[in-house]
Amino acid sequence: MKILITGATGLIGKAIIRLALNRNFKVNYLTRDKTKIKSSANCNGFYWDINKDYIDLKCFEGVNVIINLAGEKIFQKWTNQAKKEILFSRIKPINLLIKGIKSSKKIGIKSFISASAIGIYQSNFEKYYSEDEIDDPRNFIQKIVCDWEKKSLSVRKYIPNTSILRIGLVLSKNDGYMKETDFPMKFGFGIQLGSGEQWQSWIHIDDIANIFLFIAKLNLSGIYNAVAPKPLTQKEFLKKIRETNSRKFIIIKLPIFFLRFLFGERACLLIDSHRVSSKKIIKLGYKFLYNEADHALNNLYKRNDNLT
Ligand SMILES: NC(=O)c1ccc[n+]([C@@H]2O[C@H](COP(=O)([O-])OP(=O)(O)OC[C@H]3O[C@@H](n4cnc5c(N)ncnc54)[C@H](OP(=O)(O)O)[C@@H]3O)[C@@H](O)[C@H]2O)c1
Repeated sequence: MKILITGATGLIGKAIIRLALNRNFKVNYLTRDKTKIKSSANCNGFYWDINKDYIDLKCFEGVNVIINLAGEKIFQKWTNQAKKEILFSRIKPINLLIKGIKSSKKIGIKSFISASAIGIYQSNFEKYYSEDEIDDPRNFIQKIVCDWEKKSLSVRKYIPNTSILRIGLVLSKNDGYMKETDFPMKFGFGIQLGSGEQWQSWIHIDDIANIFLFIAKLNLSGIYNAVAPKPLTQKEFLKKIRETNSRKFIIIKLPIFFLRFLFGERACLLIDSHRVSSKKIIKLGYKFLYNEADHALNNLYKRNDNLT
């Protein structure tokens, strides 16, 4: 298998590359940063410039699967300009891939797998979301994720096996959700966000990388939630961290009005509740490496590599 990955220099992309190379797959990747282009026998970087509509067509040579992860970080100050960039950085790369696919002659791409996010679901404290429970978007996140999914699905015209992974909070040692949670803990505080009753559907970094390759291997199409089978409330999560982490901390409760004052509209990323089901991917035979949060956290805290 030869995989082309966009957004490959980020958290999830790096994990997929490591796993793919371990399995002796070949990897091409696209980056906007020329300093990140490296070449080796099995892994080769290629340049694209999304703003100038440029893509190095050599990146498609011999590729069977495209994994699309490109996108501006969501947890940043939501100015009007940033909001535009968050949306366009998910739409324009797909347009450019389509342009590349159309102009590459000898193309044998069998599947296209694109990232998405569980933020597409409405915040709800009771529902247990399966993939078909989508309502009209109400907030900025739902709107961009809907547009992102629509654009991803438009690739079906060229690559019928197109799939979307709605990713939950990725747990990894040195980046993303755990890095943010860990920061106040360095000073002895764990932060309870609002009531702490909001559901957090998490996934271990090794599982998310594994699921992308599982979908690729089975040539699946459709939409899949990519979350571990046992989501937790934010309060329960803090408890699990306290049990597994060697750091001692006291819990400070930040009320919702204060979070809204601090973060404005993007406070929804902290207080919204998403209890999301992974039954669909499990039914297809995917076996999670990390079902339980304490197992996932224990594994991450014990890791001494700098990669995850
Ligand atoms: N991590 C999570 O918890 C999580 C949860 C749900 C969904 N997701 C989604 O899954 C995807 C991958 O997540 P991640 O955590 O690996 O993200 P990440 O670490 O932020 O990496 C994203 C990559 O996208 C590229 N990128 C950044 N800004 C861009 C822009 N303006 N235009 C085009 N490309 C841009 C960058 O690659 P280059 O600089 O090399 O071009 C970057 O390495 C993202 O789209 C993210 O929204 C992540």
